[in-house]
Amino acid sequence: MSATETSLPGHPEFKFRGGELFAEEVRLDELAREHGTPLFVYSKAAMLAALAAYQRGFAGRRARICYAMKANPALAVLQVFVQAGCGFDIVSGGELERVLAAGGQGRDIIFSGVGKTRAEMRRALEVGIGCFNVESEAELEVLSEVASAAGRVAPVSIRVNPDVDPKTHPYISTGLKGNKFGIAHGQALSAYRRAATLPGLKVVGIDCHIGSQITDEAPYLNAMDRVLDLVESVEVAGIALPHIDFGGGLGIDYNGDRPPAADALWAKLLARLDARGFGDRQFLIEPGRSLVGNAGVCLTEVLYLKPGEQKNFCVIDAAMNDLPRPAMYQAFHGVVPLARRDTPPRTYDLVGPVCESGDWIARDRALAVEPGDLLAVLSAGAYCMSMASNYNSRGRAAEVLVDGSRAFLIRERETPADQMRSERLVP
Ligand code: LLP
Repeated sequence: MSATETSLPGHPEFKFRGGELFAEEVRLDELAREHGTPLFVYSKAAMLAALAAYQRGFAGRRARICYAMKANPALAVLQVFVQAGCGFDIVSGGELERVLAAGGQGRDIIFSGVGKTRAEMRRALEVGIGCFNVESEAELEVLSEVASAAGRVAPVSIRVNPDVDPKTHPYISTGLKGNKFGIAHGQALSAYRRAATLPGLKVVGIDCHIGSQITDEAPYLNAMDRVLDLVESVEVAGIALPHIDFGGGLGIDYNGDRPPAADALWAKLLARLDARGFGDRQFLIEPGRSLVGNAGVCLTEVLYLKPGEQKNFCVIDAAMNDLPRPAMYQAFHGVVPLARRDTPPRTYDLVGPVCESGDWIARDRALAVEPGDLLAVLSAGAYCMSMASNYNSRGRAAEVLVDGSRAFLIRERETPADQMRSERLVP
């Protein structure tokens, strides 16, 4: 890196060069001028670098990385992962159709989620889905019925709730007893016995996912031990489990967070797997955030400055409908101005135009900004656009994918006509 180049923390492909912020070889202010704001910009190289860390961890193993596309389901993003040879973790029929539209195959997909409908099951069977991660005994019964009626055999894995605390935000913990996900550890063996007797089902593995934005390796190691205890008892009962799916959840650096590196984490987990005699199994994982989160930023323009008695507000053109994580989880996203000013910074709350006091994007940030300035909201590649809404009838933002010196508009800004397309006035 040259002396005038500085990377943004946690975002290796986003760099200041001579005072200008770049994504790979593309200037962000130029993208904002060309496409308007708010604008999501993703770096393909950053996604591939994050994927490479997992691939290093799995070198020489029978392993499959199934991108949890709920993090960012843009077709062009899926295409990057299709081309890189990934599978996909999906949770709805809509996600299924997106994978197919991006060039993925049914056999590359694992279908998770607590509420699969019969129609979703039928469609998944029709495209030859790789595996259903079943989350309740009731779902096993319905899947058996649907598969039998269709004359097909559904490959199933049971999602086990290992009751391990991932030490993350309560809304994104999924593997605790009080969560709706998975089948309780103590009931899993009987669920497997039931699955083995039901027509139309073939048991192919075991699955768990304990939460998201996990920054500590201990919960993973504990969950692995709990899952492997179960693999032992299920196999003693005569039911083979050729694959072990360990879910996703690895965190990213939002605000100085220090999650373990994917390669180091998997080296440890796989060593534990070997030590317990399960090194021969196919290993699956379902990472979402850690593949795309820090591969994206959201560009936004400062509309107004509103100095106040208690707070100074910086009103920007991105809002909670574009970036819902602060309002939903009090989440932190870094914010950097695209151009530096020499004026002294002031402390602002960054708020959007939506009519809710909860519409804030960042709090108490020291910034030297003026109306018309452009800002980059960081770590915006995961769970931003995928959770965006039309609240206040705001159109969803446009998205650009950068690849080296090329920038591709991968989603147009939504227009009022787009928003109203499926609606009807009554006669
Ligand atoms: N597999 C399953 C079954 C999941 O439920 C999830 C995420 C993943 C994989 C991917 O987890 P990741 O690697 O992305 O942590 N909207 C929240 C995150 C919700 C995560 C839900 N499940 C947020 O913005 O923080």
